[in-house]
Amino acid sequence: MSSTIIPIASGKGGVGKSFVAANLAIALAEQGKKVVVADLDFGASNLHTCLGLNNINPGIGDFLRARTAKLQDLLVTTDVQNLNFLAGDVRSPFLANMHHAQKMRLIYNLKQLNCEYLILDLGSGSAYNTLDYFGMTQLGMLVTTTEHTSIMNMLTFLKLFAFRVIERSLPKNTFLEKKLKESYNLSVREEILTVRGLLDELALIDLQVAQQAELKWSSYRPRIVFNKCKTPDELTLLPALENTLKHNLLLRTDFIGCLFDDPAVSMTFQQRETLNKVSPSAEIAEDIRLLADRIIRLWKQPLRNSAGLLINNANKVYHQRSNEHKS
Ligand SMILES: Nc1ncnc2c1ncn2[C@@H]1O[C@H](COP(=O)(O)OP(=O)(O)O)[C@@H](O)[C@H]1O
Ligand SMILES: [Mg+2]
Repeated sequence: MSSTIIPIASGKGGVGKSFVAANLAIALAEQGKKVVVADLDFGASNLHTCLGLNNINPGIGDFLRARTAKLQDLLVTTDVQNLNFLAGDVRSPFLANMHHAQKMRLIYNLKQLNCEYLILDLGSGSAYNTLDYFGMTQLGMLVTTTEHTSIMNMLTFLKLFAFRVIERSLPKNTFLEKKLKESYNLSVREEILTVRGLLDELALIDLQVAQQAELKWSSYRPRIVFNKCKTPDELTLLPALENTLKHNLLLRTDFIGCLFDDPAVSMTFQQRETLNKVSPSAEIAEDIRLLADRIIRLWKQPLRNSAGLLINNANKVYHQRSNEHKS
């Protein structure tokens, strides 16, 4: 059975990736799906905390050290039926800097895990390794807040991801690779390199290769989740964001979730427990369940008018809750 892989990335740290990874995995498992949630935030692992687990389990570091180890054998059962956890690097420092062959072995073996959903909690930012885990599927998930810096960092992440996809689509050719590296190393006086700019430069060298790279890039369609929203008005930026993604990054995306800011979340962090244990009836728990439900129904297909739909849904939920608070 091949699993649906959902790597969860963000340009900026602290936007809620680990919280979403853990609680989304729980919500999917509660819907009867067989789920594995893995900690790939090497160097800053805290997914176990969000799952209410202690930091004691062997994990990916042990897998990489022992050439015969199987990832499947390192899965840890949790209190939630259908949910298994794969630990990161508790016992292996500097895994964030694992070399290429190790990364490829890890990616290959993650894809072989026997489950319906594989959720990957990634590190923040655009390190090569993070970009490559995100690129394990064409439909990764980005978590962002609506704050300017968080959105800008997400755009940077996606631009560097585009460069990585383009780079990896090139035939092994030292001349092309050299040219690509030259394009990255601009002097401060030159214009900032864009996705279009990079493809245009490639086209000057080899039109066919450039067209193939553009085709490859156009097959990616990440899904964006907005977290810590205070009001649905924050989502008015969506149409402009959609335009920027399309024109500056040549990328189509879907806006798939809106999770509101909720004090119950910081309680889960303080108590090192899952949301279900701390506050199962919190509004954020309902937001997460809605997201899980949308993922089960819609993950594989492109969403039409996802900006409009998300804004409408978020407004509906928000006003319903405001009315409940009043009564
Ligand atoms: N919906 C939310 N409402 C309120 N606080 C949140 C929400 N989501 C995350 N947080 C807070 O944000 C902080 C960072 O969350 P975390 O999941 O560790 O982010 P990341 O993995 O992206 O670095 C935590 O302190 C958590 O309490
Ligand atoms: Mg995290």
